[in-house]
Amino acid sequence: MIGSFTRHLLFAKQAARPALFSAHAAQAPFSAFANHRNTEDNNEDTPFEFTNENYEEIQKLLSKYPTNYKESACIPALFIAQKQNNNFLTLSAMNKVAKVLNMAPMQVYEVASFYTMFNRTKVGKYHLQVCGTTPCMLRGARDIIQAVKDFSHIEMDGTSEDGLFTLSEVECLGACVNAPMIQVNNEYVYEVSSYLKRDIEEESPLLWQFLENTANPTFL
Ligand code: FES
Repeated sequence: MIGSFTRHLLFAKQAARPALFSAHAAQAPFSAFANHRNTEDNNEDTPFEFTNENYEEIQKLLSKYPTNYKESACIPALFIAQKQNNNFLTLSAMNKVAKVLNMAPMQVYEVASFYTMFNRTKVGKYHLQVCGTTPCMLRGARDIIQAVKDFSHIEMDGTSEDGLFTLSEVECLGACVNAPMIQVNNEYVYEVSSYLKRDIEEESPLLWQFLENTANPTFL
């Protein structure tokens, strides 16, 4: 059975604006995502190489800019790297972008660490980014955050043990007119609280069912 929240999610999925290359890039908060620490799966030696298809994509990007401004393609190239690497932008992936664009690695780190849409820490299959800025906050963002915590048993900036969910709070994602909203990977979901509230009252966590059964992480 598809409940109201799921239907809404499905509608929102169809209507969602692509977050890729969005002008509403949110600035990264001071959080667990702010600093790099070498880990087993994220260090300078972690293998990363663009696929041939993605090299072609980057060449297409570069053709849009003067040859002496390759760094203009930094943000979209980082997106390509992150997408290829299961929504995880590792140090070695950033270094590869720097090499391809003839940039100093530090310049690339500066860009990647500024925006919440670059995941420099491994995130769950479903990265739930709840907007906590004033319009969303006034329309129930706190309740959404609590509901997500209750369902997933994770705290803010945490990832569930099964690797399914990561919860983050982000600044305005430019969808205030449809507050409160959350971003699930690269999909926007609008006007969440009334649907989520009803699902909770019906003890039917359709959000999770939707994510498990319908969403495909390859849509990233
Ligand atoms: S305040 Fe939440 S999208 Fe703008």
